[in-house]
Amino acid sequence: MNTLMPESPEYRDRPAVSQDILTSPISLGEVANPTIMQGSGIRICTSAQGLSAINAPGNELVICRRSIPFCVTEWLKKMAPSQLPALRILVSRANVREALESELDAFGMASGRTRDAFIADIADLVSVFAGITRQDLVDVRLDRIEHDACWKFHKDSVEIRLLTTYRGETTEWISPQFADRALREQKDYDGPLESLRQHDVAIFRGKHANSADGIVHRSPPIAGTGSVRLLLCLNAPSIVSPEQWRAERRA
Ligand SMILES: [Fe+2]
Repeated sequence: MNTLMPESPEYRDRPAVSQDILTSPISLGEVANPTIMQGSGIRICTSAQGLSAINAPGNELVICRRSIPFCVTEWLKKMAPSQLPALRILVSRANVREALESELDAFGMASGRTRDAFIADIADLVSVFAGITRQDLVDVRLDRIEHDACWKFHKDSVEIRLLTTYRGETTEWISPQFADRALREQKDYDGPLESLRQHDVAIFRGKHANSADGIVHRSPPIAGTGSVRLLLCLNAPSIVSPEQWRAERRA
């Protein structure tokens, strides 16, 4: 897990993603529902590269348990909601850092080591996602969420998606054996409900995947709580993606 501080030489010199690949079936005690075991298509890993297990047959959800630098967490937590970024860019791996620097400048986010660490984390995930999807372009969204967002249990209309929450409550999901009931009962559903842990990275199949049913999930209900979330969502390029970000356009 990445617990290095951005101020340290080790952090600056670290590889783009951790090299250890440790992917395991979800185990007893990992989730609220102890019946989620090997064979359910859900896996846990401890490095971003382990997320590539999503490409193994039968896998529908891979969760990377990790931490991010404490300074980034505190920096985002203390930020006024209006200062949290909300952006969407279609960008190549090579340009993602430059694009995010430009976009965050436009939001008035002061540059510095903490912002660099935040950008580096997103860039690492973009690189991993591009490798998994085998497409150099990635549709990157940073969403500032102050309401219940996608509160209904649903499957995403994509083949594959990556999510992580940098601030606030995390995404909730349903193990496959309860998915149909959750979709049917919606607000009346009171069965097992799982939540990602803070800073977990989840990559999962949507309903357009060929070999999977898609993971049922929802945004946590936060309306009226005063909470503001910051969610990173990575998608493959699609017809609804913005025009590709190019440095020369911003010159
Ligand atoms: Fe969704």
